[in-house]
Amino acid sequence: MMLIPDIVIAIDGFSSTGKSSFAKLIAKEFGFLYLDSGALYRGVTLYAMENGLIDGENRIDGERLCRGLADLDLHFRQEADGCRTYMGDRCIEKEIRSLAVSRKVSPIAAFAPVREYVDRKLRELGIRKRVVIDGRDIGSTVFPDAELKIFMTADPQTRAMRRMKELEGKGEKVSFSDVLENVRERDYIDSHRQVSPLAKADDAIVLDNSEMTIEEQMVWIRELIAERFGNKSVQQ
Ligand code: DC
Repeated sequence: MMLIPDIVIAIDGFSSTGKSSFAKLIAKEFGFLYLDSGALYRGVTLYAMENGLIDGENRIDGERLCRGLADLDLHFRQEADGCRTYMGDRCIEKEIRSLAVSRKVSPIAAFAPVREYVDRKLRELGIRKRVVIDGRDIGSTVFPDAELKIFMTADPQTRAMRRMKELEGKGEKVSFSDVLENVRERDYIDSHRQVSPLAKADDAIVLDNSEMTIEEQMVWIRELIAERFGNKSVQQ
């Protein structure tokens, strides 16, 4: 295994580009902790939906949501088969991945107090270094000093197909056109929102994986890490 220094790796990019699968594998390979920032936005969204804080037209009851955030306990637990998202004692991993939550998450993520809540949690966890964090604004806003920043992209059709397979694998019946529409809608909202829009940090390296397998992406990152941190890393 290649040993690398204590760094923060930020993986940003469009939805369904495979950021989390890639980030999890990187974490496993280098013995880093994986943090899924989208899961926190999804957790806040589930909380808002369950408490009637967002309506059918995606209007948010900002005042009550802000009050709720003060006591909202979202956290990750490392379990034998991976990392799970919890709301208090309740595992919410399955619910937060549903299409219902995906449909409401962008407006919630565009609400500034929610971003502050998530950023604070991530920074508390990232201070220990040796973390791989995936999201939209990790390299540009949350950890601007991250030592390695990757920006992932792929064409929308490829991403919608991946997302559909993922949802079907979880037993959710969805049409390709609905998923494609959700992918495009999220791209638009995520890149046009006023607060912390999806943006490539100037020093991020672009990875377009439309035509790449996950193994090819791992070869790519190993070479990049060896090149960047080669003289600081140790081959075992
Ligand atoms: O990566 P994901 O699909 O689980 O993210 C869910 C939503 O959260 C996505 O629509 C955009 C938002 N998000 C964000 O705004 N900033 C982040 N750092 C991570 C996710």
